Amino acid sequence: MMVTLAFPSPHRHWRGGRGLFDGLRARWAEQRRLEHHARLEDELRGLWREACFGVGVCQYIEAAAGMTVRTPRFGAARILRGRTTFTAELLPGGEPEDLRAHAPRLAHTLGFRGLRVEQIAGRWVRVTLLETDPLADAFALRRLVTARADETVILGRAEDGVTLGHAHADAAHLAVQGQNGAGKSAFTYGLLAQVCAAPDVLVAGSDITGLVLGRAWTGTAHHDWQTTGTRDLPAHAAMLDRLVAEMDCRLDAMPPRRDKITPTTTTPLVLVVLEEFPGLLRAAQAKDKKLAERITSAVLRLVSEGRKAAFRVLMLAQRFEANAVGGGYARDQFALRLSFRVPGESLVMLHGEDARKLGPEHANSAPGIAYLSAPGHDCTRLRAPYLGDYGEFCDRIARHGRRAS
Ligand SMILES: Nc1ncnc2c1ncn2[C@@H]1O[C@H](COP(=O)(O)OP(=O)(O)OP(=O)(O)O)[C@@H](O)[C@H]1O
Ligand SMILES: [Mg+2]
Repeated sequence: MMVTLAFPSPHRHWRGGRGLFDGLRARWAEQRRLEHHARLEDELRGLWREACFGVGVCQYIEAAAGMTVRTPRFGAARILRGRTTFTAELLPGGEPEDLRAHAPRLAHTLGFRGLRVEQIAGRWVRVTLLETDPLADAFALRRLVTARADETVILGRAEDGVTLGHAHADAAHLAVQGQNGAGKSAFTYGLLAQVCAAPDVLVAGSDITGLVLGRAWTGTAHHDWQTTGTRDLPAHAAMLDRLVAEMDCRLDAMPPRRDKITPTTTTPLVLVVLEEFPGLLRAAQAKDKKLAERITSAVLRLVSEGRKAAFRVLMLAQRFEANAVGGGYARDQFALRLSFRVPGESLVMLHGEDARKLGPEHANSAPGIAYLSAPGHDCTRLRAPYLGDYGEFCDRIARHGRRAS
């Protein structure tokens, strides 16, 4: 007897019907996917061991059969929508930082551009592999404006792809150094564009270049608190004295049982921008030593006493040498420190000995790449956001800059 098997027609299959082949095809596809995943996982496991051994994140263990090498144990990989992650168990006594310290080299051995390490539980960490280099790719700043002083502004994107932020309400003055064309001003444009609209922030200060402050701020509530250019140097001293007087007023009027001012619309957080401050000091010294002393002592007061009165200083300099920025004591007051491209010695001067090993590489970094140190944070390199050309900064300030009420 002839048995006729009733296969569904191919037409029906291609129309998406659920025939016998559909089930088989789905199973084969799943099997292929699992085999592919297992192959990739095996490959990653082998490379991970080699990479950890290569950078020295390993332990040597004496066993009867001889010396064996132990590396952070590879757990399981997960590849989802093009994102590859895997888990790993740290070595006894190890910390996630041991892996982060070698992140670029580990990633390169695994065939990726970067990696991020997050602690999940106990000694287990999750490693996320990055296909693109977060420092190499430009970081455009979305049309982002903050509405309050305690909102976080974006400082940049770190090597592990994480966006780093900072709230000016945190009591930290900012020091920014970098050679010509390294990206200090562009970073400041990005920062100021984010805070210019907040009703409880006032952007004040001195800028001999007249690009960061000044004309771009015409018509805003901030403009009256900004001095620019080199033609009238006493005007810079007068502005800094005015800021000190405002600070003193706030300190004198401090409410009982309070030791710091919380920014409000009537007592806004004053962000004192000092663009190319060593240049201002040099120009003042050349003209009149007393004027330079007046400027130095005002800045010294702002950085040492300003935090309580909701004053934050953002000082920019090509090199943060003590005598160029008002002395070692003044420099010590800056908690948040950013170095764009600078020679290795300048990097160590501002960030300490830990930064020395990065010196040669950082001395050749592209514009916009900075080294950041802050209390309670591991030092990290970041890519500062970039608004685009200068006109875009002017447009954003004109559009969003807070108007005088
Ligand atoms: N974050 C960035 N991303 C991409 N390009 C950048 C970035 N920052 C700066 N640049 C490029 O570098 C150029 C110089 O930057 P910027 O004017 O900020 O340097 P600077 O450190 O202020 O230099 P100077 O000491 O001369 O004032 C910019 O015009 C821009 O082309
Ligand atoms: Mg500049």
